Amino acid sequence: MSSSHRLLVENARQLVLICSGGEKYLTEPGMKNLCVIENGSVVVGSDGLIEAVGPAETIRAQYSEATFEKVIDASGMCVMPGLVDAHTHPVWAGDRVHEFAMKLAGATYMDVHRAGGGIHFTVEHTQAAAPSDLLASLSGRLARMQRAGTTLVECKSGYGLELQTELKMLEVIDEARRTLPINISSTYCGAHAVPKGKTVAEATEDILQVQLPRLRERMSAGNLRVDNIDVFCEQGVFDLDSTRSILQAGKDLGLNINFHGDELHPMNSAQLGAELGALAISHLEEVTDEGIKAMAEAKTAAVLLPTTAYILRLPQPRARDMLDAGVIVALGSDFNPNAYCCSMPIVMHLACVNMRMSMPEALAAATINAAYALGRSHTHGSLEVYKHGDLLVLNTSRWEHLIYQLGGHQELVRYVVIKGNVV
Ligand code: NIG
Ligand code: FE
Repeated sequence: MSSSHRLLVENARQLVLICSGGEKYLTEPGMKNLCVIENGSVVVGSDGLIEAVGPAETIRAQYSEATFEKVIDASGMCVMPGLVDAHTHPVWAGDRVHEFAMKLAGATYMDVHRAGGGIHFTVEHTQAAAPSDLLASLSGRLARMQRAGTTLVECKSGYGLELQTELKMLEVIDEARRTLPINISSTYCGAHAVPKGKTVAEATEDILQVQLPRLRERMSAGNLRVDNIDVFCEQGVFDLDSTRSILQAGKDLGLNINFHGDELHPMNSAQLGAELGALAISHLEEVTDEGIKAMAEAKTAAVLLPTTAYILRLPQPRARDMLDAGVIVALGSDFNPNAYCCSMPIVMHLACVNMRMSMPEALAAATINAAYALGRSHTHGSLEVYKHGDLLVLNTSRWEHLIYQLGGHQELVRYVVIKGNVV
Protein backbone atom coordinates (compact mmCIF):
# COMPACT_ATOMS: atom_id res chain seq x y z
CA MET A 1 0.00 0.00 0.00
CA SER A 2 1.63 3.19 -1.16
CA SER A 3 -1.07 5.73 -0.27
CA SER A 4 -1.09 8.15 2.64
CA HIS A 5 -2.89 7.34 5.87
CA ARG A 6 -3.79 9.34 8.93
CA LEU A 7 -2.42 7.19 11.74
CA LEU A 8 -0.45 4.07 12.52
CA VAL A 9 -0.41 2.82 16.10
CA GLU A 10 2.07 -0.01 16.18
CA ASN A 11 3.52 -2.70 18.40
CA ALA A 12 0.90 -2.48 21.15
CA ARG A 13 1.72 -4.94 23.91
CA GLN A 14 -2.01 -5.72 24.04
CA LEU A 15 -4.43 -4.61 21.33
CA VAL A 16 -7.99 -5.07 22.59
CA LEU A 17 -10.37 -5.24 19.64
CA ILE A 18 -13.76 -6.23 21.15
CA CYS A 19 -14.83 -8.39 18.22
CA SER A 20 -18.55 -8.10 17.77
CA GLY A 21 -18.43 -10.75 15.05
CA GLY A 22 -21.05 -8.97 12.98
CA GLU A 23 -23.36 -8.53 15.98
CA LYS A 24 -23.88 -5.04 17.29
CA TYR A 25 -23.45 -5.98 20.94
CA LEU A 26 -21.96 -8.62 23.24
CA THR A 27 -24.12 -10.54 25.69
CA GLU A 28 -22.19 -13.69 26.57
CA PRO A 29 -21.48 -13.68 30.33
CA GLY A 30 -17.72 -13.49 30.78
CA MET A 31 -17.28 -11.83 27.35
CA LYS A 32 -14.77 -14.20 25.83
CA ASN A 33 -14.89 -12.20 22.58
CA LEU A 34 -12.79 -9.24 23.59
CA CYS A 35 -10.07 -10.50 21.19
CA VAL A 36 -6.74 -9.40 22.59
CA ILE A 37 -3.83 -9.43 20.14
CA GLU A 38 -0.37 -9.49 21.70
CA ASN A 39 1.89 -7.09 19.78
CA GLY A 40 -0.71 -5.57 17.49
CA SER A 41 -1.10 -2.54 15.24
CA VAL A 42 -3.98 -0.39 13.94
CA VAL A 43 -4.16 1.78 10.82
CA VAL A 44 -6.62 4.67 10.49
CA GLY A 45 -7.19 5.98 6.97
CA SER A 46 -7.42 9.59 5.82
CA ASP A 47 -11.23 9.41 6.22
CA GLY A 48 -10.79 8.73 9.96
CA LEU A 49 -12.03 5.15 9.67
CA ILE A 50 -10.14 2.02 10.71
CA GLU A 51 -8.46 0.46 7.72
CA ALA A 52 -6.61 -2.45 9.26
CA VAL A 53 -6.03 -4.13 12.61
CA GLY A 54 -3.85 -7.15 13.32
CA PRO A 55 -0.49 -8.51 14.39
CA ALA A 56 2.27 -5.91 14.04
CA GLU A 57 4.29 -7.98 11.49
CA THR A 58 1.27 -8.45 9.22
CA ILE A 59 0.44 -4.74 9.24
CA ARG A 60 4.09 -3.81 8.71
CA ALA A 61 4.33 -6.06 5.65
CA GLN A 62 1.00 -4.84 4.30
CA TYR A 63 1.91 -1.15 4.69
CA SER A 64 5.63 -1.27 3.93
CA GLU A 65 5.26 1.38 1.18
CA ALA A 66 2.71 3.57 2.95
CA THR A 67 3.18 6.98 4.57
CA PHE A 68 1.39 8.11 7.71
CA GLU A 69 0.57 11.57 9.00
CA LYS A 70 1.34 10.26 12.48
CA VAL A 71 2.92 7.14 13.93
CA ILE A 72 2.59 6.15 17.57
CA ASP A 73 4.96 3.52 18.87
CA ALA A 74 2.83 1.74 21.47
CA SER A 75 5.57 -0.68 22.58
CA GLY A 76 4.88 -1.77 26.14
CA MET A 77 1.48 -0.07 26.06
CA CYS A 78 -2.12 -1.15 25.43
CA VAL A 79 -4.55 -0.01 22.77
CA MET A 80 -8.32 -0.32 23.07
CA PRO A 81 -11.46 1.29 21.66
CA GLY A 82 -12.46 4.70 23.01
CA LEU A 83 -14.96 4.46 25.86
CA VAL A 84 -18.64 5.19 25.34
CA ASP A 85 -20.67 6.88 28.06
CA ALA A 86 -24.33 6.02 27.45
CA HIS A 87 -25.97 8.40 29.94
CA THR A 88 -25.08 11.93 31.04
CA HIS A 89 -26.75 15.21 32.00
CA PRO A 90 -23.83 17.58 31.31
CA VAL A 91 -25.60 20.90 30.52
CA TRP A 92 -26.56 22.82 33.64
CA ALA A 93 -25.85 25.78 35.86
CA GLY A 94 -25.92 25.97 39.67
CA ASP A 95 -23.88 24.08 42.21
CA ARG A 96 -25.51 21.33 44.33
CA VAL A 97 -22.64 20.45 46.61
CA HIS A 98 -24.84 21.50 49.57
CA GLU A 99 -27.26 18.70 48.65
CA PHE A 100 -24.49 16.15 48.91
CA ALA A 101 -24.13 17.25 52.52
CA MET A 102 -27.91 16.90 53.03
CA LYS A 103 -27.86 13.39 51.60
CA LEU A 104 -24.87 12.42 53.76
CA ALA A 105 -26.92 13.63 56.72
CA GLY A 106 -29.73 11.22 55.79
CA ALA A 107 -32.03 12.95 53.26
CA THR A 108 -33.13 10.75 50.36
CA TYR A 109 -33.06 11.83 46.70
CA MET A 110 -36.83 12.31 46.75
CA ASP A 111 -36.75 14.22 50.08
CA VAL A 112 -34.50 16.79 48.42
CA HIS A 113 -36.59 16.82 45.23
CA ARG A 114 -39.89 17.32 47.08
CA ALA A 115 -38.38 20.14 49.13
CA GLY A 116 -37.83 22.00 45.84
CA GLY A 117 -34.17 21.09 45.47
CA GLY A 118 -32.60 18.49 43.20
CA ILE A 119 -33.67 18.81 39.58
CA HIS A 120 -35.83 21.88 40.44
CA PHE A 121 -32.81 23.74 41.83
CA THR A 122 -30.84 23.02 38.67
CA VAL A 123 -33.80 24.00 36.46
CA GLU A 124 -33.99 27.46 38.06
CA HIS A 125 -30.30 28.11 37.48
CA THR A 126 -30.27 26.62 33.98
CA GLN A 127 -33.27 28.64 32.87
CA ALA A 128 -31.44 31.81 33.95
CA ALA A 129 -28.08 30.88 32.36
CA ALA A 130 -26.72 32.37 29.12
CA PRO A 131 -26.12 29.83 26.32
CA SER A 132 -22.45 30.87 26.17
CA ASP A 133 -21.99 30.04 29.86
CA LEU A 134 -23.72 26.69 29.42
CA LEU A 135 -21.51 25.92 26.43
CA ALA A 136 -18.36 26.86 28.36
CA SER A 137 -19.19 24.61 31.30
CA LEU A 138 -20.32 21.80 28.98
CA SER A 139 -17.04 22.00 27.05
CA GLY A 140 -15.03 21.79 30.26
CA ARG A 141 -16.99 18.75 31.44
CA LEU A 142 -16.68 16.98 28.07
CA ALA A 143 -12.94 17.68 28.08
CA ARG A 144 -12.66 15.98 31.47
CA MET A 145 -14.60 12.98 30.18
CA GLN A 146 -12.39 12.82 27.11
CA ARG A 147 -9.22 12.92 29.21
CA ALA A 148 -10.54 9.88 31.09
CA GLY A 149 -11.03 8.05 27.78
CA THR A 150 -14.58 8.80 26.66
CA THR A 151 -14.84 9.33 22.90
CA LEU A 152 -18.64 9.01 22.43
CA VAL A 153 -21.04 10.46 24.99
CA GLU A 154 -24.80 10.78 25.28
CA CYS A 155 -25.87 14.28 26.41
CA LYS A 156 -29.37 15.03 27.70
CA SER A 157 -31.40 18.19 27.98
CA GLY A 158 -33.92 18.15 30.85
CA TYR A 159 -33.14 21.10 33.09
CA GLY A 160 -35.50 23.40 31.22
CA LEU A 161 -38.87 21.68 31.51
CA GLU A 162 -40.29 24.32 29.15
CA LEU A 163 -39.78 24.95 25.47
CA GLN A 164 -37.27 27.79 25.47
CA THR A 165 -34.80 26.32 27.93
CA GLU A 166 -35.08 22.80 26.53
CA LEU A 167 -34.28 24.21 23.07
CA LYS A 168 -31.45 26.29 24.53
CA MET A 169 -29.91 23.15 26.03
CA LEU A 170 -30.30 21.12 22.82
CA GLU A 171 -28.74 23.95 20.83
CA VAL A 172 -25.79 24.08 23.22
CA ILE A 173 -25.35 20.30 22.84
CA ASP A 174 -25.57 20.66 19.06
CA GLU A 175 -22.93 23.40 19.07
CA ALA A 176 -20.63 21.17 21.12
CA ARG A 177 -21.26 18.33 18.68
CA ARG A 178 -20.29 20.52 15.72
CA THR A 179 -17.20 22.09 17.27
CA LEU A 180 -15.60 19.58 19.67
CA PRO A 181 -13.81 16.38 18.68
CA ILE A 182 -15.78 14.15 21.07
CA ASN A 183 -18.73 12.30 19.47
CA ILE A 184 -22.10 13.25 20.91
CA SER A 185 -25.52 11.58 20.90
CA SER A 186 -28.15 14.16 21.81
CA THR A 187 -31.24 13.40 23.91
CA TYR A 188 -34.39 15.45 24.45
CA CYS A 189 -35.41 14.92 28.10
CA GLY A 190 -38.18 17.50 28.55
CA ALA A 191 -39.94 14.98 30.82
CA HIS A 192 -37.15 14.93 33.41
CA ALA A 193 -39.40 16.31 36.16
CA VAL A 194 -42.86 17.83 36.50
CA PRO A 195 -42.40 21.62 36.60
CA LYS A 196 -43.34 23.28 39.90
CA GLY A 197 -47.02 24.26 39.94
CA LYS A 198 -48.01 21.83 37.16
CA THR A 199 -49.72 18.44 37.25
CA VAL A 200 -48.34 15.42 35.40
CA ALA A 201 -51.21 15.78 32.92
CA GLU A 202 -50.39 19.44 32.27
CA ALA A 203 -46.68 18.73 31.89
CA THR A 204 -47.41 15.85 29.50
CA GLU A 205 -49.76 18.05 27.48
CA ASP A 206 -47.09 20.76 27.20
CA ILE A 207 -44.54 18.23 25.95
CA LEU A 208 -46.94 16.67 23.44
CA GLN A 209 -48.59 19.85 22.19
CA VAL A 210 -45.87 22.50 22.51
CA GLN A 211 -42.35 21.11 22.92
CA LEU A 212 -42.35 18.11 20.57
CA PRO A 213 -44.08 19.92 17.67
CA ARG A 214 -41.47 22.73 17.89
CA LEU A 215 -38.71 20.16 18.04
CA ARG A 216 -40.12 18.50 14.95
CA GLU A 217 -40.04 21.84 13.07
CA ARG A 218 -36.47 22.53 14.10
CA MET A 219 -35.32 19.02 13.22
CA SER A 220 -37.01 18.96 9.84
CA ALA A 221 -35.63 22.42 8.99
CA GLY A 222 -32.25 20.75 9.48
CA ASN A 223 -31.00 23.24 12.05
CA LEU A 224 -31.13 21.04 15.13
CA ARG A 225 -30.04 17.46 15.51
CA VAL A 226 -31.59 15.31 18.24
CA ASP A 227 -31.10 11.54 18.42
CA ASN A 228 -33.04 10.18 21.40
CA ILE A 229 -36.06 10.81 23.62
CA ASP A 230 -36.01 10.32 27.40
CA VAL A 231 -38.56 10.43 30.25
CA PHE A 232 -37.99 9.99 34.00
CA CYS A 233 -40.58 7.25 34.62
CA GLU A 234 -40.93 7.24 38.42
CA GLN A 235 -43.45 7.61 41.25
CA GLY A 236 -44.00 11.33 41.81
CA VAL A 237 -42.54 12.13 38.39
CA PHE A 238 -43.99 10.67 35.13
CA ASP A 239 -46.28 7.65 35.51
CA LEU A 240 -46.38 4.75 33.07
CA ASP A 241 -49.19 6.14 30.89
CA SER A 242 -47.70 9.61 30.48
CA THR A 243 -44.30 8.00 29.85
CA ARG A 244 -45.82 5.80 27.15
CA SER A 245 -47.47 8.69 25.31
CA ILE A 246 -44.34 10.90 25.41
CA LEU A 247 -42.01 8.12 24.28
CA GLN A 248 -44.36 7.06 21.50
CA ALA A 249 -44.62 10.66 20.28
CA GLY A 250 -40.83 10.91 20.25
CA LYS A 251 -40.55 7.65 18.36
CA ASP A 252 -43.01 9.03 15.80
CA LEU A 253 -40.52 11.88 15.25
CA GLY A 254 -37.83 9.31 14.48
CA LEU A 255 -36.07 9.54 17.86
CA ASN A 256 -34.62 6.49 19.59
CA ILE A 257 -36.28 5.66 22.89
CA ASN A 258 -33.77 5.72 25.73
CA PHE A 259 -35.30 6.52 29.12
CA HIS A 260 -34.97 6.47 32.94
CA GLY A 261 -36.96 3.58 34.43
CA ASP A 262 -37.45 1.40 37.50
CA GLU A 263 -34.94 3.45 39.49
CA LEU A 264 -36.52 4.10 42.89
CA HIS A 265 -39.67 1.97 42.54
CA PRO A 266 -40.66 -0.93 40.30
CA MET A 267 -42.77 0.81 37.64
CA ASN A 268 -42.86 -1.87 34.89
CA SER A 269 -40.71 0.54 32.90
CA ALA A 270 -38.70 -2.36 31.49
CA GLN A 271 -41.83 -4.02 30.10
CA LEU A 272 -42.99 -0.69 28.67
CA GLY A 273 -39.64 -0.09 26.99
CA ALA A 274 -39.65 -3.58 25.47
CA GLU A 275 -43.21 -3.03 24.21
CA LEU A 276 -42.28 0.29 22.57
CA GLY A 277 -39.07 -1.06 21.02
CA ALA A 278 -36.84 1.12 23.22
CA LEU A 279 -33.17 0.98 22.36
CA ALA A 280 -32.24 1.39 26.02
CA ILE A 281 -33.52 1.90 29.55
CA SER A 282 -31.32 3.39 32.26
CA HIS A 283 -31.06 2.74 36.01
CA LEU A 284 -33.28 -0.34 36.59
CA GLU A 285 -32.29 -0.74 40.26
CA GLU A 286 -35.88 -1.95 40.89
CA VAL A 287 -36.46 -3.99 37.74
CA THR A 288 -38.46 -7.23 38.12
CA ASP A 289 -37.70 -10.69 36.69
CA GLU A 290 -40.43 -10.13 34.08
CA GLY A 291 -38.84 -6.84 33.12
CA ILE A 292 -35.45 -8.49 32.64
CA LYS A 293 -37.00 -11.18 30.44
CA ALA A 294 -38.85 -8.61 28.35
CA MET A 295 -35.67 -6.58 27.79
CA ALA A 296 -33.67 -9.65 26.77
CA GLU A 297 -36.31 -10.62 24.22
CA ALA A 298 -36.72 -7.11 22.82
CA LYS A 299 -32.96 -6.48 22.65
CA THR A 300 -33.48 -3.35 24.73
CA ALA A 301 -30.15 -2.46 26.35
CA ALA A 302 -29.90 -1.89 30.10
CA VAL A 303 -27.78 1.18 30.82
CA LEU A 304 -26.58 0.61 34.37
CA LEU A 305 -25.32 3.58 36.39
CA PRO A 306 -23.11 2.48 39.27
CA THR A 307 -22.43 6.04 40.46
CA THR A 308 -26.10 6.70 41.23
CA ALA A 309 -26.60 3.52 43.22
CA TYR A 310 -23.37 4.31 45.08
CA ILE A 311 -24.13 7.94 45.90
CA LEU A 312 -27.79 7.40 46.78
CA ARG A 313 -27.06 4.10 48.52
CA LEU A 314 -29.67 2.34 46.39
CA PRO A 315 -29.83 -1.40 45.86
CA GLN A 316 -27.27 -2.35 43.23
CA PRO A 317 -28.60 -2.88 39.69
CA ARG A 318 -28.94 -6.63 39.00
CA ALA A 319 -26.16 -6.85 36.44
CA ARG A 320 -25.53 -10.59 36.95
CA ASP A 321 -29.18 -11.53 36.55
CA MET A 322 -29.34 -9.41 33.41
CA LEU A 323 -26.19 -10.93 31.93
CA ASP A 324 -27.43 -14.43 32.71
CA ALA A 325 -30.75 -13.65 31.01
CA GLY A 326 -29.00 -12.36 27.87
CA VAL A 327 -29.75 -8.65 28.35
CA ILE A 328 -27.40 -6.26 26.53
CA VAL A 329 -25.73 -4.56 29.51
CA ALA A 330 -24.22 -1.11 28.98
CA LEU A 331 -22.76 1.46 31.38
CA GLY A 332 -23.02 5.21 31.82
CA SER A 333 -21.54 7.75 34.20
CA ASP A 334 -24.89 9.51 34.79
CA PHE A 335 -22.81 12.69 35.15
CA ASN A 336 -25.21 15.24 36.67
CA PRO A 337 -25.26 17.57 39.71
CA ASN A 338 -26.28 14.59 41.88
CA ALA A 339 -23.63 12.16 40.60
CA TYR A 340 -20.61 14.27 39.72
CA CYS A 341 -18.45 11.74 37.90
CA CYS A 342 -16.77 12.30 34.53
CA SER A 343 -14.78 9.07 34.51
CA MET A 344 -15.87 5.88 32.78
CA PRO A 345 -12.86 4.00 34.25
CA ILE A 346 -14.28 4.73 37.72
CA VAL A 347 -17.72 3.64 36.51
CA MET A 348 -16.27 0.34 35.27
CA HIS A 349 -14.45 -0.14 38.58
CA LEU A 350 -17.68 0.38 40.54
CA ALA A 351 -19.55 -1.95 38.17
CA CYS A 352 -17.01 -4.70 38.86
CA VAL A 353 -16.83 -4.27 42.63
CA ASN A 354 -20.45 -3.40 43.45
CA MET A 355 -22.36 -5.06 40.62
CA ARG A 356 -20.07 -8.06 40.33
CA MET A 357 -19.29 -7.69 36.67
CA SER A 358 -16.03 -9.10 35.33
CA MET A 359 -13.52 -6.68 33.79
CA PRO A 360 -14.21 -7.93 30.23
CA GLU A 361 -17.96 -7.54 30.86
CA ALA A 362 -17.47 -3.99 32.14
CA LEU A 363 -15.30 -3.09 29.15
CA ALA A 364 -17.85 -4.46 26.66
CA ALA A 365 -20.55 -2.55 28.56
CA ALA A 366 -18.55 0.69 28.29
CA THR A 367 -17.75 0.28 24.58
CA ILE A 368 -19.75 -1.83 22.10
CA ASN A 369 -22.87 -2.21 24.27
CA ALA A 370 -22.98 1.47 25.23
CA ALA A 371 -22.65 2.30 21.53
CA TYR A 372 -25.58 -0.06 20.86
CA ALA A 373 -27.66 1.78 23.47
CA LEU A 374 -27.10 4.94 21.39
CA GLY A 375 -27.79 3.26 18.04
CA ARG A 376 -24.15 3.73 17.08
CA SER A 377 -22.58 0.28 17.37
CA HIS A 378 -22.33 -0.11 13.59
CA THR A 379 -19.77 2.74 13.64
CA HIS A 380 -18.37 2.89 17.19
CA GLY A 381 -17.49 0.74 20.21
CA SER A 382 -14.87 -1.65 18.80
CA LEU A 383 -11.68 -1.67 16.75
CA GLU A 384 -12.99 -3.23 13.57
CA VAL A 385 -12.37 -2.28 9.97
CA TYR A 386 -14.69 0.52 8.68
CA LYS A 387 -15.53 1.73 12.19
CA HIS A 388 -14.38 5.14 13.43
CA GLY A 389 -10.72 5.35 14.43
CA ASP A 390 -11.56 6.18 18.06
CA LEU A 391 -9.05 4.57 20.42
CA LEU A 392 -7.01 4.88 23.58
CA VAL A 393 -3.33 4.23 24.10
CA LEU A 394 -2.76 3.22 27.72
CA ASN A 395 0.51 3.57 29.51
CA THR A 396 0.36 0.06 30.94
CA SER A 397 1.19 -3.42 29.70
CA ARG A 398 -2.18 -4.93 30.72
CA TRP A 399 -5.45 -3.30 29.72
CA GLU A 400 -7.18 -4.30 32.98
CA HIS A 401 -5.22 -1.56 34.76
CA LEU A 402 -7.75 0.94 33.35
CA ILE A 403 -10.40 -0.66 35.58
CA TYR A 404 -8.27 -1.90 38.45
CA GLN A 405 -6.74 1.48 39.29
CA LEU A 406 -9.28 3.65 41.12
CA GLY A 407 -8.76 7.17 39.78
CA GLY A 408 -5.61 8.82 38.41
CA HIS A 409 -6.44 8.06 34.81
CA GLN A 410 -4.68 11.16 33.52
CA GLU A 411 -1.44 9.21 33.96
CA LEU A 412 -2.73 5.99 32.48
CA VAL A 413 -4.49 7.30 29.36
CA ARG A 414 -1.47 8.38 27.30
CA TYR A 415 -3.31 9.26 24.06
CA VAL A 416 -6.98 9.70 23.21
CA VAL A 417 -7.59 9.38 19.48
CA ILE A 418 -10.82 10.37 17.71
CA LYS A 419 -11.21 9.64 14.00
CA GLY A 420 -7.49 9.07 13.79
CA ASN A 421 -6.57 12.42 15.37
CA VAL A 422 -4.83 12.67 18.73
CA VAL A 423 -7.07 15.00 20.78
O1 NIG B 1 -30.25 9.96 36.21
N1 NIG B 1 -33.06 10.19 37.89
C1 NIG B 1 -33.17 11.24 37.26
N2 NIG B 1 -32.22 11.97 36.71
C2 NIG B 1 -30.86 12.02 37.08
C3 NIG B 1 -30.61 12.92 38.24
C4 NIG B 1 -30.72 14.31 37.83
C5 NIG B 1 -30.51 15.29 38.94
O2 NIG B 1 -30.64 14.94 40.13
O3 NIG B 1 -30.23 16.45 38.59
C6 NIG B 1 -30.25 10.65 37.20
O4 NIG B 1 -29.72 10.26 38.25
FE1 FE C 1 -29.97 10.31 34.49
